[in-house]
Amino acid sequence: MPGIVVVGAQWGDEGKGKVTDLLAHRVDAVVRYQGGNNAGHTVVVKGEEYKLHLIPSGILYPHILCIIANGVVVNLEVLLKEMDDLSKRGIDVSTIRLGGNAHLIMPYHLILDSMAEYHLGKARIGTTHKGIGPAYADKASRVGLRVQDMLDWKIFKLKLEQTLKFKNEILTRIYDQPPLDSQEIMDKYQGYAQRLKEYIVDTTVLINDLLDRNRKVIFEGAQGTMLDLDHGTYPFVTSSSPVSGGVCVGAGISPSRIDEVIGIVKAYTTRVGEGPFPTELTDETGKIMREVGREYGTTTGRERRCGWYDSLIVQYAAVLNGFTSLALTKLDVLSQFDQLKICVGYEHENKIYRQFPPHQTIIHKGRPLYETLPGWRKDISHVRNYAELPPEAKAYVARIEELAEVPVDIISVGPNRNQTIMVEGRFKSHISGLYA
Ligand code: GDP
Ligand code: IMO
Ligand code: MG
Repeated sequence: MPGIVVVGAQWGDEGKGKVTDLLAHRVDAVVRYQGGNNAGHTVVVKGEEYKLHLIPSGILYPHILCIIANGVVVNLEVLLKEMDDLSKRGIDVSTIRLGGNAHLIMPYHLILDSMAEYHLGKARIGTTHKGIGPAYADKASRVGLRVQDMLDWKIFKLKLEQTLKFKNEILTRIYDQPPLDSQEIMDKYQGYAQRLKEYIVDTTVLINDLLDRNRKVIFEGAQGTMLDLDHGTYPFVTSSSPVSGGVCVGAGISPSRIDEVIGIVKAYTTRVGEGPFPTELTDETGKIMREVGREYGTTTGRERRCGWYDSLIVQYAAVLNGFTSLALTKLDVLSQFDQLKICVGYEHENKIYRQFPPHQTIIHKGRPLYETLPGWRKDISHVRNYAELPPEAKAYVARIEELAEVPVDIISVGPNRNQTIMVEGRFKSHISGLYA
């Protein structure tokens, strides 16, 4: 039962799309298990760039099932546009499968997301305004509409009218917005359903059947550990569970099905949106990271905040997710610097914390304590063998392994699929031949 989880160790945008695509050529299915089109996963193959928001990053291989499982919240308009855009570029999208229990992002969710952010003012989360929070809130409140509701229009209409009555009260009375018309929404969704009904399946049965038959399945996380609703920097988080435990709930598999958990770790740290970020650099160094690393949001185009590598966060992510290996991305970006810093502790009110602290005030107010390592100051984007990396780069990788207590099996030195180093010898994949 080779179930492999790919999960972000920081605040998202670690390069999950690149690594998933890279590993996908040897697998049978790639599954998205949480989140929605707040995600933006970039895959670059032979210079061609693909930005995927809902469709799993296995779609560039014709033989791979791309499964959007029940834990995802789905904006059907976005999904159809993404399918159309890929089709226009010659990509076969007939391998997509959509879970019937997945919840729908409805037009009012988008408005409510933006309105909530507006009214929070300075306390805003900095969401992607894609309706993610309100859609998950409705799911938890048991008033959400699901993909399968579109297969029975009586049910869909009933649920929509019930919910919309309440949503329109909020829109008009609290937010001073025009009400939405249920018939207009019905018409739109009937059109979407017409196009998508052949893709709707019981994804739980499908995924378990693949695993029963010893097929290889990648579970592609969106967002990252520090954006996890339960374990991240709440309330500056997303509304789902990106951590590896989220796979079981979102995809409907037993924990015993997971063989390998690959933590995707950027060689420095970025964050988009509001919230604490101990190693953030607002100086020239941060600017260089942003420009050289092209750190602009894939989904919203916003500038990503940049800073040094924070080992406390990755250590915490390793514990939460049970990483069996790390994929270290964007190492090439650090070629810019004479010296590199790694955060190895926080100091707050005369106390030093060497592990992720128990109270969030320490993350907001703590001063990062750094170790300094020498830079290598050489272009490494062409390197394909670990042995050919400059000694300073090897030392940096080794320190990251030591602090995380997890081996780095993959090193990424550029956005292209082939700009990758598979660390030979130390490389311990449970899935024989996956990386061959
Ligand atoms: P994801 O959300 O985790 O899939 O990451 P994103 O795609 O949002 O952001 C990662 C960005 O870095 C994308 O633009 C990738 O093309 C790019 N990228 C990935 N790996 C590398 C790398 O090793 N070096 C460089 N320079 N860019 C990379
Ligand atoms: P990928 O999968 C980075 C952030 C938003 C905001 C917070 C809540 O590409 O790594 P939401 O719209 O989810 O309610 O916003 O989470 N966020 C991400 N940051 N990468 C992502 O996805 C993100 N998805 C959401 O910026 O701070
Ligand atoms: Mg992204």
